[in-house]
Amino acid sequence: RPRVLSGIQPTSDSFHLGNYLGAVRQWVPLQETHDAFYMVVDLHAITIAPTAAELRARTRTAAAQLFACGLDPERSSVFVQSHVREHAELAWMLNCLTGMGEAGRMTQFKDKSAKYGEGSASVGLFTYPILQAADILLYQTDQVPVGADQKQHIELTRDLAQRFNARYGPTFTVPNPHIVKAVEKITDLQDPTAKMSKSSSSPQGILDVLEEPGALRKKVMRAVTDTGTDIVADDENKPGVTNLLRILSALTGTPIPDLEARYVGQGYGTFKKDVAEAVIETFSPIRERTEKLLANEAELDRMLAIGAAKARAVAQETMEKARDAMGFLPTH
Ligand code: TYM
Repeated sequence: RPRVLSGIQPTSDSFHLGNYLGAVRQWVPLQETHDAFYMVVDLHAITIAPTAAELRARTRTAAAQLFACGLDPERSSVFVQSHVREHAELAWMLNCLTGMGEAGRMTQFKDKSAKYGEGSASVGLFTYPILQAADILLYQTDQVPVGADQKQHIELTRDLAQRFNARYGPTFTVPNPHIVKAVEKITDLQDPTAKMSKSSSSPQGILDVLEEPGALRKKVMRAVTDTGTDIVADDENKPGVTNLLRILSALTGTPIPDLEARYVGQGYGTFKKDVAEAVIETFSPIRERTEKLLANEAELDRMLAIGAAKARAVAQETMEKARDAMGFLPTH
């Protein structure tokens, strides 16, 4: 079975619709056909300096949401990144293989660090993509299911794998991104040319998985639409309507041309109401399951321990190879 691996940051109290459609929802069926590893990347989350209490709560909430979305501890390895110590170790080795200029070209770093004063973003934020490369290479990953914003990081991961293999002998599988075009970039409801993002300036543009139905409905009804009244997909002239069409199509499994035909002559109101209901119908059961899982922390932690044990076995084997290839002396 080919291996898939992906990760999600516990940087807020809930996943949003972009995380769900672009990533987590794809992860569920891959459990049936692939050897699957999914993790909550808590080491990545400290690049933005949460408090200890925030990190703890968000990591559990993120894990609970993954299980609530349909990941199964029997069929895949669902774990917390920091539980497998090898991530930090391999990241260090890869740091020493990465050029400063190469790391400096990462557009996510440029976007994220822009909020901080000149020179004030952490070094961790700068080396973030190298830790991500370590995440992927530790598991000899074939495919990485992610949204479009992660393309550049996977490209870097491929470069680092090839460089390591060329310099020290074949050690790592060179991974490929697995991106589903139709949902690769869900956009902000208030600014439909920008991606929906946890760090977006206004919560009005983001639909959170754990949000109450009333709030979700309000946000969809207030979504920015475009001039005119036609409900047609047109990225250039109608980015708002196009985003909503993509969302409704993905959630209901109805192709966009069928939706366009269904809404001919109908106003934006009816259309938005249907989008809101589809979102609520998808999110409500996930919210309920997440709450149940969070009510039993001991059981949740036990499920994560099972995932960590499976992950550790693979990571340790890869690290032994990598240490030896680089020339580190064995410990025994
Ligand atoms: P993160 O936590 O920002 O996002 C998790 C996943 O959600 C996808 N995504 C989107 N997809 C479509 N439309 C959107 N608006 C949208 N917003 C987010 C992201 O592409 C991602 O797949 N660096 C990663 C986490 C990570 C990782 C890894 C991923 C760490 N190590 C190893 C894969 C493999 C990130 O920040 O994801």
